[in-house]
Formats: sequence, structure tokens, C-alpha cells
Amino acid sequence: MPAANPTRNATLARAFGGRWALVTGASAGLGEQIALDLAAAGAHVVLTARRADRLNDLAERIRATYFVQTLVVPADLSLPEAPRELYDATEGAGIPIDILINNAGFGYLGQFHRGSPEWDRRMVTVNCAAVVHLTHLFLPRMIERRRGHIMMLASAAAFQPIPYMSTYAATKVFDRFLGEALDAEVRQYGIRVSSLCPGPTESEFGQVAGLNSSAFRRAVPAEPVVRRGLLDLANGRPISYPPGSGAFFIFLERFLPRTLVTRLLERGLRRAIPARNA
Ligand SMILES: NC(=O)c1ccc[n+]([C@@H]2O[C@H](COP(=O)([O-])OP(=O)(O)OC[C@H]3O[C@@H](n4cnc5c(N)ncnc54)[C@H](OP(=O)(O)O)[C@@H]3O)[C@@H](O)[C@H]2O)c1
Repeated sequence: MPAANPTRNATLARAFGGRWALVTGASAGLGEQIALDLAAAGAHVVLTARRADRLNDLAERIRATYFVQTLVVPADLSLPEAPRELYDATEGAGIPIDILINNAGFGYLGQFHRGSPEWDRRMVTVNCAAVVHLTHLFLPRMIERRRGHIMMLASAAAFQPIPYMSTYAATKVFDRFLGEALDAEVRQYGIRVSSLCPGPTESEFGQVAGLNSSAFRRAVPAEPVVRRGLLDLANGRPISYPPGSGAFFIFLERFLPRTLVTRLLERGLRRAIPARNA
């Protein structure tokens, strides 16, 4: 359960209580924690990802602990029809989605030319195309209702090019810019869009991306990251810098030539590449 903090809990309950949230990538890591925290705030949750067994377990835990409603809709967001299927299973079935959490995503660490073009294509589809498609489907209904919250799972990697994670970092800058621009565009309708920018966070991300464990030595737990992200979403902050995001370094980078930072990152990350991708 999230740490008790009456002011925070009241803010989250006011923003999210009694609303339906759609959480993509709810079967693990940050998405699972977001679903738990939203349910703790009194939101009903639609859980989606590919692993249905995990989603069903989580739904059962949520119902037993928080007495909110849940709906499990397994979907593979690398398939072009998946966002429409999620829309049909929710708004199309009379469930108004007031909170859209665009969280599902994955990365890859290794030299670009040794990576798989199919893996990269799927990464761009899940991390970017599905986010655009889902937002296109759900945002107009939020605007009609004059209420809604959208979270984009960006990253601390969304502030500069990252060698050996080139496609991934590019997808995350896409998510951040999309989120920032949309927030400015839809505020007038009472909708808030916030881009959460975590640094290394405990989850299955490193394993999926082929990052060795030392790269995640200083990873922070998902709980404080999600706590900050949901509070900033509720408070209408367009960008959220959770613990471990390195906000100070992100600020400093503004004053340094980007090529210099990128070359320094290349040197640092070269050592972290798994042998098979080097
Ligand atoms: N952990 C970090 O250090 C970190 C830092 C910055 C940003 N982020 C971002 O945070 C988000 C969540 O990542 P995480 O760290 O929680 O990683 P994670 O533990 O690996 O979780 C990723 C989630 O995305 C889902 N997913 C992956 N491919 C999918 C697909 N094709 N269709 C539907 N769902 C899919 C996975 O579910 P299934 O496998 O069951 O489909 C899983 O639920 C990502 O967007 C990531 O870029 C993570």
C-alpha cells in the first residue's frame, strides 16, 4: 500500500476517485504500481498488457484490497488494431475512461547496427504509435466531458540522445514532446497531460532491454517514482521529475553542447553493452 500521507492521499482521491483509468503495461514494473496507487486513490482500473495471467492476479489483488472495479483486457500494442480493441472494450462498452496511462514500453541496449530491425519497429510502435493512437481515441471523449488526465511514460532519457539506446531514447523524447504539446493544447478543456521522466527504476525493463545489473545499480523502487508521477498528474504539472531522474543533471545539460554530452555518454555506455550486442 502507498505510504500514508493525508494531504497526498486527499489530492489523489479528489483527482482520481470514482473515475475509470486505463493503464497500459499493467502486468509489471511501473504500470503495476500505477494501477495499485490509482486503485488506492479510489479509481476503477482497466488493466492491459500481453500477459493475461499477471493482469488477472493483479485485478484480484486490487479488488480484494481497495474495493474498486477492475477490467482485464489483454492486448499486444505492437499490433495496429490493439488500441481500437481497447477503446471498444471500454468506452465502446459504456466505461468512460477519464485517466489514460500510456505506460507500456520497452528498450534495447546495444549497437544500433547489431540490433534487430523488427525489435526496433515494435519498440517504435509500442512506445510511440500506440501512444498516439490511444490518445487519439480517448482524448475526444475527455474533451466532451471536460475532464481527464493523461500520463505519458517518458524518461530521463528523453532529454538528450543516448548512444547504444538510440531508438529507445528517441521514442521517449517523442513521448515527452507529445505530452508537453498536448498539455498546452487541452488545458482549456480541463484536461491535464503529464510526462513522467524516471531514471533507472526497479522493474523488468533492464532484463527486457538487455541491460546488465550494474547499469541498474542505483535503480530506485517503483513506489516513490509512481507516487511523484501521480501527484504531479493530479496537480497538473506537465513534466514530472521523480526521485532518481537526475533532475539536476538534466538542468545542467541545458548549458552544455549536446554533442559533448552525447560523446561522454557514448564512452560511459560502451562498457555497459552486453557482449552479444557489442
Ligand atoms: N524502469 C526504468 O528504468 C524506466 C525508466 C524510464 C522510463 N521507463 C518507462 O516506463 C515504462 C514502463 O516500463 P517498466 O520499467 O515498468 O518496464 P517493465 O517492468 O518491463 O514493464 C513493461 C510493461 O509494458 C508491457 N508491454 C511491453 N510490450 C508490450 C506490448 N507489445 N503490448 C502490450 N504491453 C507491452 C509489459 O507487459 P507484457 O510483457 O505482459 O505485455 C509490461 O507490463 C516504459 O514506457 C519505459 O520506457 C522505465
